[in-house]
Formats: sequence, structure tokens, C-alpha cells
Amino acid sequence: MELHEFIRALPKAELHLHIEGSLEPELMFEMAQRNGVKLPYANVEETRAAYAFTDLQSFLDIYYAGAAALIHERDFHDLAMAYFYRAKVDGVVHTEIFFDPQTHTARGLAFETVLDGLERACQEAQSQLGISSRLILCFLRHLPEEDAFRTLEQAVPHLSRIHGVGLDSSEKGHPPAKFQRVFAKCRELGLHLVAHAGEEGPADYIRDAVDLLHVERIDHGVRVTDDPALVERLAKEKIPFTVCPLSNLKLRVFPDLSTHSLKRMLGAGLRVTINSDDPAYFGGYIGQNYLETAKALKLSKNELVTIARNSLLGSFVTDAERAPWLAKLEAVAKSA
Ligand code: HPA
Ligand code: ZN
Repeated sequence: MELHEFIRALPKAELHLHIEGSLEPELMFEMAQRNGVKLPYANVEETRAAYAFTDLQSFLDIYYAGAAALIHERDFHDLAMAYFYRAKVDGVVHTEIFFDPQTHTARGLAFETVLDGLERACQEAQSQLGISSRLILCFLRHLPEEDAFRTLEQAVPHLSRIHGVGLDSSEKGHPPAKFQRVFAKCRELGLHLVAHAGEEGPADYIRDAVDLLHVERIDHGVRVTDDPALVERLAKEKIPFTVCPLSNLKLRVFPDLSTHSLKRMLGAGLRVTINSDDPAYFGGYIGQNYLETAKALKLSKNELVTIARNSLLGSFVTDAERAPWLAKLEAVAKSA
């Protein structure tokens, strides 16, 4: 079996995917046209040409601009369905999707417009494609904690449809401590907790996300290798890391994939997973992330099985939901 076929056959969970980051330029233009929204680019080609990033902020500026095409419930539904079709092809059995309500409510959209559209797509993905999913609300860390509290208030009537909260956007200068109170409230509400940490920010932010915010997973976390004691501790604690190699490459966290810390993290016993982050902007969905990383870091089939297994173990599903996926994974591993 060729490597890409083996990767596709592995049942996997995608645990780090921003739904707004799956908006392909073609769909962006289609929506902008039907919604009468003017985009900063003349056409799809010009849009793609603008995706030459130098760091996280240079990406975020363009990512927030693109989200302006999303206006109606249907847009959020169509956006998520387009992602689910891509995920299906890559052998994703389960996904925990990030969404950024503040990006949309700041433009005057109702919180419910966003949530209703995404939720309807999640149900369709289950019934039509057999993909299960959960929604994770991310707070934008460049905004004040008060804004996060206001967003949480809007979410409270809908907590049966929101599984957890996360923290994204500009990392440097916006440490986990800034959101300690709102995360404590989310914890009281019984929400699952995750946070981006150690993407561009230091390893200290990873420790603070765990110790101050009590997160159950770290998103990115690739700078953990700067702190060997922290690596040892988080390996023991089995904290999952949702690593996104093509994102790290495009945002110049590493100069090339062969220098990526993923293999060292895996070797140190950390619960590493591979994910796509913002696939429409970074040049590849989850399968491409597995494939390019496997080639650049010379990952064995065994290591790829471990990574896919980590994604199933790191997901927020029940053991009963997880069991058939794990069984299928072990069967694929044996056939390799
Ligand atoms: N980092 C921070 N914020 C983000 C990202 C990311 O990788 N993707 C979308 N928002
Ligand atoms: Zn991310």
C-alpha cells in the first residue's frame, strides 16, 4: 500500500481546525457575490497570490478579511459542509471544530446565525457522511477578557451544542494569564478547555495554559522542546498536542518541515497529533499534513499509527464512541 493510501485508511480525528480557515477562495467569492460583499481582491487568483505569509499576524490580517464574506446561516452551513467533504476523503472519522464568534459578532452578525449554520452542517455530516463532530468556541486573545466574558454570555443558552472553549489569534503579548477568570468560569460550566500555546509564544505559555487555565489539550505547542522538564512532565500527564505542520511551515515557525519539532516531541513520548489548522490558507488538508510531514521527517508507518491513535485518544468523545475507531485503526496497522 502506498503511503498516501495508508494515511487515508487510518481512522483519524481532526482536533485543530478553524472552520473560518477552511474557506477556499472559490467559495469565498461565491458567497461574497451572493451577499453583495466587496472583498479586498479582484478574483480567486489574486486572493491566492496574497497568501504569502511571514508570521502569524500577517496571516490573521488576511484570515479575518476573508471571513467578511460569511453573512447568513446558510454560509456557515455551506462552509462547514465543504470542509466535511474534504475530511471524508482523508479518512477523518471525527472532528472537533473551532469557530471564532467574535470575528462575526463584531461585524453585526447574531451569535445564533453562526452557531445554527455550523450545527446544521454537523448533523448533516453525521447522517450523510458518518463523520461525528463537536464545536469548540475560541476566544480571540488580542481582545480584552471582558469581550470573552460577553461572548460566553451569548453562548450560555446554547451550551448543549458547544462542547468546549479555546483560545486563538495573536499569541505574543497575550499570555494565558489574561484569560484566567473566563476559563475558570468555563470550567465551572463543565466545558472542555483547550488553548493555542507555544506556536510563536514561549514554552512558558504552554505551562501557564496547563497550570492557570487547566486546559486538557495544547494547540500547536511546538516550542515545548525548548523546555525539557516541561516535555517530561506533559508526556507523563498525557496531554495531547494538536500540531499543524503545514501551518508552522507557512507561518515560518520552522524554516522547513525537516527541522520541525514534531519528531522530537513524538520521540519524547508526548501525545502528538497532526491537524490542518487553516487548510484553505496553508496549502493542505489533514491528509496532506500527514503525508508531507511523514516524508520530511521520515516517519515510519508505526509512528503514523501512533499519531492517528493519539488523535482518537485525545478527542473529547466517550470510550464507547472511540472503541470502534480504535479497533479499525489496529486492523489497518496490522495490514500494513
Ligand atoms: N494561531 C492562532 N490563531 C489562529 C490560528 C493559529 O494557528 N488559526 C486561526 N486563528
Ligand atoms: Zn489554530
